Amino acid sequence: MNVLIIGSGGREYSIGLALSQDEKVDKIYFAPGNGATAKIGENISYESYDSLIESAKEKMIDLTIVGPEAPLVDGVVDRFKAAGLKIFGPSQAASQLEGSKVFMKNFLKKYEIPTARYIETDNIDEASQFIDSLSTPIVVKADGLCAGKGVIIAQSHEEAKEAAKGMLSGESFGDAGKRVIVEEFLDGYELSVFAICDGEEYKLLPAAQDHKRLLDGDQGPNTGGMGAYAPTPLIDEALYRAIEEEVVKPTLKGMQAEGMPYEGVLFMGLMIVDSKVKVLEYNVRFGDPECEILMPLIRSSVFELFDKGASGKLNELDIEISEQKCVGVVMASQDYPYKSSKPAEIIVDEIVDPHLREHCHISYAGVSEIDGKIFATGGRVLVCVGLGESIQEARDRAYELAAHVHFMGKQCRMDIAYQALS
Ligand code: AMP
Ligand code: GLY
Repeated sequence: MNVLIIGSGGREYSIGLALSQDEKVDKIYFAPGNGATAKIGENISYESYDSLIESAKEKMIDLTIVGPEAPLVDGVVDRFKAAGLKIFGPSQAASQLEGSKVFMKNFLKKYEIPTARYIETDNIDEASQFIDSLSTPIVVKADGLCAGKGVIIAQSHEEAKEAAKGMLSGESFGDAGKRVIVEEFLDGYELSVFAICDGEEYKLLPAAQDHKRLLDGDQGPNTGGMGAYAPTPLIDEALYRAIEEEVVKPTLKGMQAEGMPYEGVLFMGLMIVDSKVKVLEYNVRFGDPECEILMPLIRSSVFELFDKGASGKLNELDIEISEQKCVGVVMASQDYPYKSSKPAEIIVDEIVDPHLREHCHISYAGVSEIDGKIFATGGRVLVCVGLGESIQEARDRAYELAAHVHFMGKQCRMDIAYQALS
């Protein structure tokens, strides 16, 4: 089978790496891919979705998998399907679950899925009135996609009003902020749970935890994610079942009722407050770096999982999840997340210990190939992934691998998975 993966990050690299070890897969293409994906497949550049569809036909692609949200929100899935190509991901309509926070919150309310109390509005007076009714901190969110920057956690009523004003005037985020959500702050711990969905059925993957802040101890600015691990011991079987019954099932039923059955990866950003689950957000794709630590935990065929997901046949499939634990440590470039850094050559020392070699690997993200060498050219450069019988062992291996990786200005958090170990 020939597979096309749309995207260029560590997430797409890790999907490609898993597929490259799958005996059902002959050839992997990445569009556009990065400097390292060319080592496990072939990169194709494209100018428009139409030209990508032409390439997919030419290369006789059997299945396309979409990594990031932007092409999904643009309707890439609808276009591929209209051209008779099999593709795994949600339709443009279903992608509103991520593309519009107003759509998402109203959906949660309509189908009685637990979430933070909120209002949605395009009116500053209405926003201010609701802000006054809440105690601080107060959360203000722009409706549309803002590259992860559209959520403000305000420490005072004034700050919340300023944030809402900035959004509604179009000043902060343009059209994406013309409607806002104001909601209560939830105090608990965050989890990422992923379901592979085919419109009706789903397969749940182990619950993961991301680390969004730049610095140890969850300090510093928000980032795309500085590391992740799975499965997290912070939830037990009962909570896992509650997530299925109170979130996953009603979400799939609700999307069917809305006439937009959900097919693709459903990423549930959850907050656990006093052992109760609440939905912070949905994303319509894998998390990054969560994907990098979940892919290695899938024992059964990853190709089949996505292929059956794209064919409405997940009910035919039993997936096997490894008993192992997985930890991923992101290595970022010097000035991440503030500005881009100068390209820096990446040197990886040879790993002599065969045991370590077998239980760790690098998932490459913001890298380019220049004259046969790999350079760090993006913000989040790569993820050091370690596997083990325990979180501690997996984490030790991820950090041992990290000690073998060198590039000018590299930075990483030293406390990934601390919540699981404390
Ligand atoms: P979102 O894009 O909606 O997931 O928000 C980004 C981040 O802001 C989340 O991962 C949380 O850490 C935080 N956040 C969002 N909404 C809330 C809330 N209601 N209470 C507490 N933290 C929140
Ligand atoms: N790691 C969080 C995200 O991909 O949105």
